[in-house]
Parts: sequence; structure tokens; C-alpha cells
Amino acid sequence: MPTHSSDSMPPVSRSVKDLRERVSAWRKQGLKVAFVPTMGALHEGHVSLVKLAGKKADKVVASIFINPRQFAAHEDLDTYPRNETEDLIKLATAGCDLAFLPSAKEMYPQGYSTSVAVEGLSRDLCGLSRPHFFGGVATVVCKLLNQCQPDIAIFGEKDYQQLLVIQRMVRDLDMPVSIIGGPIIREEDGLAMSSRNAYLSSAQREVAGKLNMIMTSAIRKLATGAEIQTTLQQASKSLLAEGFDRVDYFELRQKTDLSFIDKGTLQADQLDTARLFAAVIIGKTRLIDNMPLSSI
Ligand code: PAF
Repeated sequence: MPTHSSDSMPPVSRSVKDLRERVSAWRKQGLKVAFVPTMGALHEGHVSLVKLAGKKADKVVASIFINPRQFAAHEDLDTYPRNETEDLIKLATAGCDLAFLPSAKEMYPQGYSTSVAVEGLSRDLCGLSRPHFFGGVATVVCKLLNQCQPDIAIFGEKDYQQLLVIQRMVRDLDMPVSIIGGPIIREEDGLAMSSRNAYLSSAQREVAGKLNMIMTSAIRKLATGAEIQTTLQQASKSLLAEGFDRVDYFELRQKTDLSFIDKGTLQADQLDTARLFAAVIIGKTRLIDNMPLSSI
């Protein structure tokens, strides 16, 4: 097994106490702190968030914690990819100053009994097929933000609904942190980078690349006046014809509150505010993606 010198990895905190001491030392020096929460299995998308954090603050903390509370019993908690050493090297290369890697016991000690629920937004889109998900995310992100107390925190726009849920939570609970979205990073064929892409066989991976093509084509039609319902239905049919096993949703929504845009044709003033959202299943893997209408 290859060994890595400690200077190719960032310092690691495994306890809240240690994390707080290091961050508060920076804050005493007047340094601005950015935080990037992750579940590990890092790819270029995560790396771009850490780099963005580095542009916006003096110090960057990234966490790696596979949060059991956001997985249902039948989901992939046990098989979720885990590569601690590789992840730490990627974090160091991206400019991370401190990695926070708490254990499940550190996050949820014996007797832990508090949850955070963000109503409304959490019940829609991904919340319909994963009703446990956003409660688990809001709870862990609330804890992580309280533990780290950063000035800003960065979340990828691939999980756009998650980004909105967290922005709403921070606003509702008066948490003193700015939440910033980082752009989706895509593979050459347009597939949004995701740790779960690693589950795809090579045949499934080829099918997965078609999602981008079908979303882009739907956006072009919508932007040039095609009827919304017909376009969305045709796109769902194309996804099934291309080899996806199921379409969980393929919908046009307002980017700020996820309200439906599903009647008639798109108006000129909606081009800046509409976003296309998709969730599709191939084999056992669920992929999500979203794009602003203004992207084409
Ligand atoms: O997007 C993720 O990786 C996770 O949902 C997050 C925000 C790290 C919370 O566990």
C-alpha cells in the first residue's frame, strides 16, 4: 500500500472540541473561514467547491462524514464509497486547511434526540421518494455549522433542492453563516459528477450520459416556445427509450421556491427564473441533475 507524507494531507480534527479550538484560533487572528461539508468519495465537483471556498475565505475547512440519518434502511449507507486517504490527498491539493472527520458517535452520541425539519421545500421533488432525506441533511448540516461556526459554507448546485433547504434553514434559525452554491461540474458527455456514478456499470454509464443530452434538448425546446407539459412528457419517454429504468421526476420549477411551471409555454420573463430538475433510476442507482433555462 502506498504511503503518503503528512504534508500531502491537511491536518485532521476528529472531535468537535479540536475543530472549535483550531477555527477559533483563526477567527481570533481575524481570518475568514469557509466550510465545505461532504460525505467523502471526493471527485472534481467537491474539489471545485473547496477551491471556490479558498477564493472566498482565508481558511478552508472540509468535513467528511457519511451521515446515517439521511439514508433510509433500504438505501446505500453500507456500500457508500469510502476512500479516506485519497480524499485527504485531494483536499490538500485543492487547498483545504483542515479536514473534520467526526465518527458517528461524535456526531450522534448515546441519547441523541434532536432533529431539524425544514417544512415545505423538503416534501417536494426528491423529498417525495426519499421522505427521510432532507430531515437527515438539515439535522447534520445544522450540527456541522454549529460545530465549525464558519463565515460561509459552500454546497454544490447539483443538489439544488438541498441547497435551497439549507438556505431556508439558516434563514429560519438565524444562523450567522452565508450559504453559497457552487456550479455543477460535468464529465465530458455532460453527466453531472457524483460519488454515486461509481456504482454504474460501463453499459449503465453510457446510458447515464444521455440524461444531459435529453435535458439540454428539452431546454432548447422550452426556450423556443414549445408547450411545457408535452415537452416534459416527451423527454421522459426519451429517457426510458434510451435505457433508463425509471424517471422519478422531470419537471420545470421556479429556482427560488421550486413552485411548478407547468402550464402553457414559457414566458420571456421566466427564462431567468426557471430550472429543469430530473431524477432518474438506472439499475439500483438514482441520479439527479438540474439546469437553469438560461444555460442554453
Ligand atoms: O451533499 C452531501 O454530500 C451531503 O448531503 C451533506 C451536505 C454533506 C450532508 O451530509
